[in-house]
Amino acid sequence: MCGIVGIVSNKSVSASIIGALKKLEYRGYDSAGISTISNNRINEQKCSGRVDNLEKILFQNPSDGDLGIGHVRWATHGIPNQINAHPHSSEVVSVVHNGIIENSDKLRDEYIKKGYSFKSQTDTEVITVILTDFLKSEDLINCIHKTLEKLEGSFALGVIFKDYKNLVVGARRGSPLAVGYGHNENFIGSDSYALKSMTNKISYLDDGDFCLLYREKVEFYNSEKKKINKEILELSNEDNIAEKGDYKDFMSKEIDEQSFTTKKCINEYLDKSRNEINIYNLPIDPKKINKIRLIACGTAYHSCLMAKYWIEENTSIDVEADIASEFRYRNVKLNKDDLYIFVSQSGETADTYAALEKCKKNNVKTCGIVNVVESSIARLADFVLPIHAGPEIGVASTKAFLGQMLVLYLLILKISKERSEIDQENYKKLILDLIKLPDFIKQTLSKQKDIQVVARDFVNAKGTMYLGRGYSYPIAMEGALKLKELSYIHAEGYAAGEMKHGPLALIEDGMPVIVLAPKDRYFEKTISNMQEVIARGGKVIMITDDTSTTMSENIRFKFQIPKTNSTLNPFLLCIPLQFLAYHVALLKNCDIDKPRNLAKSVTVE
Ligand code: G6P
Repeated sequence: MCGIVGIVSNKSVSASIIGALKKLEYRGYDSAGISTISNNRINEQKCSGRVDNLEKILFQNPSDGDLGIGHVRWATHGIPNQINAHPHSSEVVSVVHNGIIENSDKLRDEYIKKGYSFKSQTDTEVITVILTDFLKSEDLINCIHKTLEKLEGSFALGVIFKDYKNLVVGARRGSPLAVGYGHNENFIGSDSYALKSMTNKISYLDDGDFCLLYREKVEFYNSEKKKINKEILELSNEDNIAEKGDYKDFMSKEIDEQSFTTKKCINEYLDKSRNEINIYNLPIDPKKINKIRLIACGTAYHSCLMAKYWIEENTSIDVEADIASEFRYRNVKLNKDDLYIFVSQSGETADTYAALEKCKKNNVKTCGIVNVVESSIARLADFVLPIHAGPEIGVASTKAFLGQMLVLYLLILKISKERSEIDQENYKKLILDLIKLPDFIKQTLSKQKDIQVVARDFVNAKGTMYLGRGYSYPIAMEGALKLKELSYIHAEGYAAGEMKHGPLALIEDGMPVIVLAPKDRYFEKTISNMQEVIARGGKVIMITDDTSTTMSENIRFKFQIPKTNSTLNPFLLCIPLQFLAYHVALLKNCDIDKPRNLAKSVTVE
């Protein structure tokens, strides 16, 4: 993953680089570094840990210079220490990199034979060495071009050269890179969010492109060294609302925003005067869709699993949900009559993007459901449906998950209607129910305190399970993922009916078990499974819209969600699970927005 930034300006750049790096920490936060050029030399400063550490170092020992590059790392090759932190510099060039150079071992051997030595264990350092070598014999453009040609794998790069005091170079293959335009200064960054306090004018590099950033202009080249022009996009102010405000962390803010973001997304897609969903011009006629394949990673994959249930319920279309890292390498039979839907908050996840590329190469119809509308997936897919959730900064996804489910739900209802598989009256009713959803979410959010109490049970737990049937099963999986990510407690989501086929053996006296039991057609069966857990000593936390108290004996705690039509239960069930993960992590003093070993945007395989 990693985040990179580069600035060429007519004033000192280190404070702006640090500011941008703080915004990019969601991409990696195990080490950080900066290089600037001043006094005719490259000043490289780096450290393990967060950008805050780097800032302290710079406070003691300021890095002057009016051009520079910066990096936040998520380690792939080599442990996260000071030596492996980026930038990687020689006497003449300094490099920051996001991605993986797959032939780095081979290149290392090649350049060691030529007499070069390496300081770090990283794959990135080969880029520094190759650039240094080519600089001896080539002009600048050829040096960059020939270096890029030698690299296999994925990268976004930021480079500065000691002898080019008005130049930052950017390059992209597989990992995103945005270019920002300022007044007498220009920028590169892993995303537009990092650059937003400096500019709202942005272009994006495409795969194979590189750019030369001067103070007064930016030049773009494609993989054949041909000069090209880029469209300049103007970001809206809305893209800029990513501050924590009075909240303790981004995650609590993002959880809290869900009623608002749901309402906003519904407003974007619903024509309330006609009770109609405004989704038109799908790349394939809904009546002719033979099969839907949903592809994603992590939390986004859980939204796909959810959609599978809704598609089966509301249409006659065959459906499959796939993990992108599996889909991209499997011998999947791609079919022109199928619709391939890619779900990704960031729109940059390497595996999801590669799966989309595979579909595009095979000329099948693709749709991207993303939060970041300028992202690589949004730009490559035939058709894009944004989730309108606003920037999500907390690594553990919350409001984006709700947004993904919501857009999938709207799309499925629309497809069902276009195929005449849902009658007009039912369609209208479901839309009216949906309009009430933000209020139900609000009510559920107001019960955070209930979960705070029960969170204590989990602090010393060896592990836990989340059980659900039907619509509640994907939510059980997502709930378990949230707890794992945030509190490092082992948690699994199971289809409640699977318990007796193995997982029941794990139940011990006092083990906390979360049971999702809304009063839907699975209710009685889920309750039986719950009793089996209770009989073996499990301490059940039940989440339900059922108000009867008769079955609440032996239940440690019951969290009540509002009653709505059962198709919408998933939107409400996931909220107490977000709270639970959040409060357990708080009690365990875990870093809420930046859980260990993780990153928000996974741009490596
Ligand atoms: C990472 C994040 C998860 C996210 C997954 C997929 O693992 O930590 O929160 O669900 O990537 O990301 P995407 O941006 O494609 O939804």
